[in-house]
Amino acid sequence: MEWSLTARDRVGVQDFVLLENHTSEEAFMENLHKRFKENLIYTYIGPVLVSVNPYRHLDIYDEEHTERYRGVNFYEAPPHVFAVADNAYRSMRTEGRDQCVLISGESGAGKTEASRRMVQYYAATCPASDKVRTVKERLLQSNPILEAFGNAKTLHNDNSSRFGKYMDVQFDFKGAPVGGHVLHYLLEKSRVVHQSHGERNFHVFYQLLEGGDDELLGRLGLERNPGQYRFLVKGNCCTVHSIDDRREWKAVRTALSMVGSGDNEVEELLSIVAGVLHLGNLQYGEGTGRRGGNAYVTNDTLVTYLARLLGVNGALLTEALTHKKIVARGEELMSPLNPEQASSARDALSKAVYGRTFTWLVDKINASLAYNADVNARENCSVIGLLDIYGFEVFKRNSFEQFCINYCNEKLQQLFIELTLRSEQEEYEAEGIAWEPVHFFDNRVICDLVEQKFRGIISVLDEECLRPGHTDDFTFLEKLEDAVGGHAHLVTHRLADSETRKSMGRHEFRLRHYAGDVDYDVNGFLDSNKDLLFRSLKEVMCTSENKILRRCFDREELMDKRRPETSAVQFKASLARLTEILASKEPSYIRCIKPNDSKQAWRFNQALVSHQVQYLGLMENVRVRRAGFAYRRSYEVFLQRYKSLCPDTWPHWRGKLTDGVSTLVKHLGYKPDEYKLGRTKVFIRSPKTLFATEDALETRKHGLAAKLQAGWRGHSQKSKYQKLRNFAIEIQTWWRGILARRRAHHRRQAADTLRRFVKGFVYRREPQCPDNEYFLDYVRHQFLVKLCGNLPRNVLDKSWPTPPTALAEASELLRELCVRNMARTYCDRISPERKNQLEQKAVASEIFRNKKDNYLQSVAKLFVGTRLNKVQIKTKVFQALSDSERMNEKYLVPVVKYDRRGYRPRPRQLILTANSAVILESGKLKQHIDYRDLTGVSVSSLNDGLFVLHVASRSSDDNKQKKNKKGDVVLSCEYVIETVTKLAIYADKINHVNVNQEGRITFTPAAPGKEAVIDFTTAGSQLLVAKAKNGHLSVTVPQC
Ligand SMILES: Nc1ncnc2c1ncn2[C@@H]1O[C@H](COP(=O)(O)OP(=O)(O)OP(=O)(O)O)[C@@H](O)[C@H]1O
Ligand SMILES: [Mg+2]
Repeated sequence: MEWSLTARDRVGVQDFVLLENHTSEEAFMENLHKRFKENLIYTYIGPVLVSVNPYRHLDIYDEEHTERYRGVNFYEAPPHVFAVADNAYRSMRTEGRDQCVLISGESGAGKTEASRRMVQYYAATCPASDKVRTVKERLLQSNPILEAFGNAKTLHNDNSSRFGKYMDVQFDFKGAPVGGHVLHYLLEKSRVVHQSHGERNFHVFYQLLEGGDDELLGRLGLERNPGQYRFLVKGNCCTVHSIDDRREWKAVRTALSMVGSGDNEVEELLSIVAGVLHLGNLQYGEGTGRRGGNAYVTNDTLVTYLARLLGVNGALLTEALTHKKIVARGEELMSPLNPEQASSARDALSKAVYGRTFTWLVDKINASLAYNADVNARENCSVIGLLDIYGFEVFKRNSFEQFCINYCNEKLQQLFIELTLRSEQEEYEAEGIAWEPVHFFDNRVICDLVEQKFRGIISVLDEECLRPGHTDDFTFLEKLEDAVGGHAHLVTHRLADSETRKSMGRHEFRLRHYAGDVDYDVNGFLDSNKDLLFRSLKEVMCTSENKILRRCFDREELMDKRRPETSAVQFKASLARLTEILASKEPSYIRCIKPNDSKQAWRFNQALVSHQVQYLGLMENVRVRRAGFAYRRSYEVFLQRYKSLCPDTWPHWRGKLTDGVSTLVKHLGYKPDEYKLGRTKVFIRSPKTLFATEDALETRKHGLAAKLQAGWRGHSQKSKYQKLRNFAIEIQTWWRGILARRRAHHRRQAADTLRRFVKGFVYRREPQCPDNEYFLDYVRHQFLVKLCGNLPRNVLDKSWPTPPTALAEASELLRELCVRNMARTYCDRISPERKNQLEQKAVASEIFRNKKDNYLQSVAKLFVGTRLNKVQIKTKVFQALSDSERMNEKYLVPVVKYDRRGYRPRPRQLILTANSAVILESGKLKQHIDYRDLTGVSVSSLNDGLFVLHVASRSSDDNKQKKNKKGDVVLSCEYVIETVTKLAIYADKINHVNVNQEGRITFTPAAPGKEAVIDFTTAGSQLLVAKAKNGHLSVTVPQC
């Protein structure tokens, strides 16, 4: 809020009555300026709104602001035009009294803008039905039309209202806008024919030329160039950068349709506008000869065009524009005009046509806004009137129009003073508080000077207009001096002191207005006042085929023999009527201020603003408002605002409001002379007291805010926690449900499984059936799982889990598979060498297993490739061998040979080749046995190393072989199993190895010869081989 402690220094006070030094204009200006700099263009003086034109768009009229002010107490929100609009609306609704809003200020101060914003506010906030929406739309659309035809660019304002406007908005009992009515005052018609330098004619002319399409301009005979028209070039300012004529034209066209003008009517209206432009271009020449001095129209074709546009006869129009009708001895005669008179007649016609069309337009708008309900409903209507009248204005040359405009402002100021003072007094009276008289400047004296009967300026002017004999503007000035010379507020050149004279022309009179001195040029006063239009011209216009013009120029006017009222008198009367209307309503005020003359944003011209503050009587207004007390509020509002400052009134006061306020102010420590309690309001004398209270509230607000915040945070956290807790519980419940369901499911499954298992166990021995199916599957599965972890690790591992009965067959198959697989894997892995060894072992097993005692000892020892290395055998032995034998030598082993005769042991080496066995003695070849000759090999079954090679003799032996043929050979070897096995393999005599189980081996020691015997016994502790007495070879083998 703007009132807050710190903000006050920056943005000032929002009500001038709260200024500490309320009589100081300096303080007033400072406050206004501070606020202006902060974009706060609105400030109150009590209920009066002071508005400073920012000359730029501010975001304070949007929807958000509209809502902020809707239905809010006037002082609750910062000052705003919406607050005034809303307050007037609510007063109208609650008190049922018609309202009016007086918007005043000098030209360009923002009156029209303010009134537009108010209508915008009502359109946005009031209830609406379809019908009402149309009315709202029309109310809004009436603006562009009236502004196009009634506004113009002046030196003060690019969109200056050149007429006064009072607009009633009618509301039905529900508060909806249902109709409207516009009253207009004194359109500045002279602008149609003349504009000062830098000014323009009415907007509509430029809009039509700029925005109208080519076809339309063609029909109207216009060229798209304002410079072509004499009525538009006087001010030498056809285009203005701030005005978009083309866009405005579109808006006007739409608005015309909106208020119910059909295409034909619009065409007729535009024909009139075009007609006025053409009228301006009408030129006169001066006749010669018999017609010497008489005016004649030089551009006849233009008249033809003009006549068509205005819907009149061309010849009649030409005659009427160059003659005037006079009545002599009851006879009507046409008297020719000289060019100057004809020009005046042309200008008068232009002004009349335009002025009356403007009136027609206002009537048209009124007809479209009329509330066409029954009498009852109309009587129940309430009204809010918006007065947007031309502001007080001073130009270099001020004419009759300025005189009327400023007189109007003077009257409104008077009304303002009267009404504000009266309302103040009434309020004090109503509240039972003594009224202290205030001194203020009453401008009645100026109003009287203008309007007083017989002695007022208007009376003198009227008299001069009507007086027979020679009269002109100067005779009027003289008469004025005679009538009111010496009046304190009027000065003429003649009556002025020498100093004043210097600043005045002889043709001027100076009026000391409440708003300042204005010099009026009397030239044209009489003509403007008479507003003369020759009868002949009126007659021609009455014949117009243009319906609008026919309405504007009524034949009845011609019949009326009474002298028409002069403009000033008409204006005075309409002002009196306006004053009456305003006085009958409850007024609100908007006082507009212009911050600079250059229409610039941000510029605040102290002198200019100060001047306006003075003449608008704002200081006086403050003084009146502060006459006794700076601040007043209804008990309810006051208590509502400050009740938090007193424990007794916070948070609620249950008793009477007066007592509540009384308790509150006592608690706040107000001294008795600082305040007064009226009937419904509390009055506070000085702003200081109020500010102290306001500051206390500001401090208190922090405490309250902290408390509220804490409360709110606690509450919001609690509800947040509760919410989360509920969610958590919900999730938990849900999740627990899921878990419980899962568990129940598992339990059910488990029970089923157990049941099946037990049943299966009971029926396990039965053939597979549904009852034992599961169990058997389980047992099978378990067996397989167990088997998987306990498979035999190698081929020799014979372990195998015991299978269940149901799986016995499968288990056996598996076992076989497993063994085969292991064997295959084993086989795949062993080297060829080892394979060879194992094959030899297998052969050994075949020959000796369970047959010979020392076989078992040999099983664990691997057979080796050879027991002697080749080096140990002399090379010549090898040389003795055949090449193939040498090549195929496979095994060498040391042996003992027992000779044939004495069986003496002789150490020898045995070589086994692929084809033969060779016996060597220290490198000497002793015996060569071809395998083909080897008929068998005999060994005992005991633990000895003896073996006998049985050799056969072959008839086909060659000599060498014969020589070597020595019969069977008895050998002994440490590695008998190995040696015999290899020999059996190489010689392919596996089936010819005889393991003698009888303890006796017979052999043939020399071929062919007798048989010898070897006897084996197992007595003794060591091996003994010796020739027994019986000639047998006796072998004693130790027992294992
Ligand atoms: N509140 C505002 N916000 C923004 N611009 C504004 C405001 N009030 C006025 N203006 C600007 O100032 C210009 C003049 O305002 P406006 O036409 O309302 O003046 P006026 O008092 O009606 O003058 P006149 O007496 O000449 O008709 C407007 O065209 C607009 O550009
Ligand atoms: Mg205006």
